[in-house]
Amino acid sequence: MAKKILVTGGTGYIGSHTVVELQESGYNVIIVDNLSNSSIDVLDNIEKISGIKPAFENFDLADKDKTEDFFARTPGIEAIIHFAASKAVGESVEKPLLYYRNNLVSLMNILECQIKFKVLNIVFSSSCTVYGQPEILPVTEQTPRKDAESPYGNTKRVNEDILNDTIAANSQLNAIALRYFNPVGAHPSALIGELPLGIPNNLVPFITQTAAGLRGELKVFGDDYDTPDGSAIRDYINVVDLAKAHVVSIKRLLTSKNKASYEVFNLGTGNGYSVLEMVNGFEKVTGIKLNYKIVARRAGDIEKIWANTTFANKELGWKAEKGLEETLLSAWNWEKNVRGIK
Ligand code: NAD
Ligand code: WQD
Repeated sequence: MAKKILVTGGTGYIGSHTVVELQESGYNVIIVDNLSNSSIDVLDNIEKISGIKPAFENFDLADKDKTEDFFARTPGIEAIIHFAASKAVGESVEKPLLYYRNNLVSLMNILECQIKFKVLNIVFSSSCTVYGQPEILPVTEQTPRKDAESPYGNTKRVNEDILNDTIAANSQLNAIALRYFNPVGAHPSALIGELPLGIPNNLVPFITQTAAGLRGELKVFGDDYDTPDGSAIRDYINVVDLAKAHVVSIKRLLTSKNKASYEVFNLGTGNGYSVLEMVNGFEKVTGIKLNYKIVARRAGDIEKIWANTTFANKELGWKAEKGLEETLLSAWNWEKNVRGIK
């Protein structure tokens, strides 16, 4: 019988792509999402891609009673992928308690239910934000974490600690924390992708919305960094590659024996691209001239980061495969589909 996997936040950006990859690998997926940052229509689009409409429940995982009730009436969950969280860095500075409550309480509720209902495996969405600006690049999993730049970033750091301590105290539980670098792009079908509410904070949605005419101009935040062209460098990873790493992580939790019960992996490509390289790459692959201007640095931004992927490549047997141009084109195809552009 197909193994049952709970995907929290499964109608969101990374979650929806992961649901498709899990279904295509033969898993039986159940999604829990309160639709605070996603739409119910995503379920139909997942079905269009995989042929299977995933089971879905709408409730808030920060609600202890509802979470416990869900686990009590849903036996047989073999593993959880916990994406559900609030993720806007700027908003977290304005509303720290919302972020601490949503992100910390939902993980704690899930872990308590895992112990109570004997659901032994969890994959957690962490972030390269836990490294801050590292002294040595590329960053390995051993690179020391830094004090977070935002309440959002701090929720990732504290949640990693909550996981680590809980796994140490409960010998049957296993967890993998995946530190994503910058997830970008969309499914090649253009049926699912990233759909930010309001004005995007992230670079690639801002680029595609500018190309689509929704934004007048892209602001490039800073050209005076210590990088070859002066703009900041990140490790942009295709969301489908990222989704596949979750399937591999689930397989590892469900099958491997001789491994640590709490593991951390960097999920990136190992390559850094500057903001201006992203702009040029988008223009090249789409043939669209982007209206952009250089402005001052954005507060809280780091200068450069990219991943050392050796540990993930070797231990997970996973590697990011898609190139930057293919990824940027997928983001543009998704934007065109959403906006009805031919
Ligand atoms: P997203 O906002 O698209 O997806 C998160 C989903 O969780 C949304 O559908 C939202 O409705 C749901 N949700 C939020 N709080 C909930 C709650 N209390 N109960 C039930 N559902 C809830 O975000 P995403 O980009 O897909 O990110 C997924 C995870 O990856 C998050 O934990 C995020 O912090 C982490 N992450 C994202 C990035 C990125 O750049 N996108 C980078 C690193 C880490
Ligand atoms: C990328 C680069 C900007 C917008 C954030 C979170 C991080 C993680 C991923 C979750 C930077 C520049 C951007 C624009 C620009 N999320 N930029 N003009 O800041 O690396 O990471 O998302 O964990 O925690 O902080 O991603 O896409 O916002 O920015 O010049 O309009 O693009 O300055 O150099 P970032 P981003």
